[in-house]
Amino acid sequence: SPLHDFLHGLPKCEHHVHLEGCMSPELIFTLAQRNNISLPDPATNPAYASIAALTARYDHFSSLDDFLAFYFQGMAVLMNEADFADLAWWYFRKAHSDGVHHAEVFFDPQVHIDRGIPYETVVNGFAQGCQRAENELGLSTRLILCFVRHLPVDNAASVYEKFVSSGHFEAGVVHGLGWSSTEVGPPKDMFREQYADALTRNIPLTAHAGEEGDPTYISTALELGATRIDHGIRLIEDPELMKRVAAQGTLLTVCPLSNVRLRCVPAVEHVPIRKFLEAGVKFSINSDDPAYFGGYILDNYCAVQEAHQLSVLEWRIIAENSVQQSWIENSRKAELL
Ligand code: ADE
Ligand code: ZN
Repeated sequence: SPLHDFLHGLPKCEHHVHLEGCMSPELIFTLAQRNNISLPDPATNPAYASIAALTARYDHFSSLDDFLAFYFQGMAVLMNEADFADLAWWYFRKAHSDGVHHAEVFFDPQVHIDRGIPYETVVNGFAQGCQRAENELGLSTRLILCFVRHLPVDNAASVYEKFVSSGHFEAGVVHGLGWSSTEVGPPKDMFREQYADALTRNIPLTAHAGEEGDPTYISTALELGATRIDHGIRLIEDPELMKRVAAQGTLLTVCPLSNVRLRCVPAVEHVPIRKFLEAGVKFSINSDDPAYFGGYILDNYCAVQEAHQLSVLEWRIIAENSVQQSWIENSRKAELL
């Protein structure tokens, strides 16, 4: 787009990217071989016949849950601390080349623990990648631990205990909590206890809500203490709630290419960017699972520009809100603005 160079140069913050969503088909096949893990038999799942077949399958996700099956299979080839560190480092290098100065990244420890990888291996590996990005690229980074909604709440309770007793929050290794995975089905408030405890510890909270689910998923997340909403595009269906979100300054972390690939909207034109701008709802633009959805953060910025034709002033408002709503100290915000 004509604004490509301008969008590249804007000081971008990413608030919604799953590190496990950065595993390309190439990396999945490479690590499967190196770590001696068998991928699904192509006879039963032809998507795993080759890198090309897997890549092609990503054009045809039918829903969030259809995607999640591939996402959980993909991350199952991560075994060693170095695998996690390399994955994070690879993402940060790409984000840096897209013009990202600050990145808040999700990870799903429950899913790794469930297949026998220790919590410490996951966090230490990802934290190493973050440290390297801070040292070598000058990026600021934040790790956000996500609870997953497709596993029983007891499973989340056990990882939350590990997280609390690790001292990782106080040490600045993990900076916040979120929830993700299957939206519609499990109880909307399934992490009520964990979020209530986290609030007493002043741990920043976010939540995936209003992606496939209706606006009551958003209001429930806010009621439980989330100060940020991941996706949140279905907020436009509840004008009263939208007014409240705008008045509170709650940030939505919108992921346009993800919404198209997961069939939440038919095209980027239908992501309610302009309605949010008009209503004074703050949002950032993000990549979600870039290796699965056909683009990293700059691709998402460019897709929004193609579809919505925003002005330079509107882009500056988006960039400034992204900095102001980041979970960083004011001195770092001042550097980014
Ligand atoms: N986990 C990874 N990507 C996700 C998404 N888009 N929605 C819910 N959970 C996810
Ligand atoms: Zn997400």
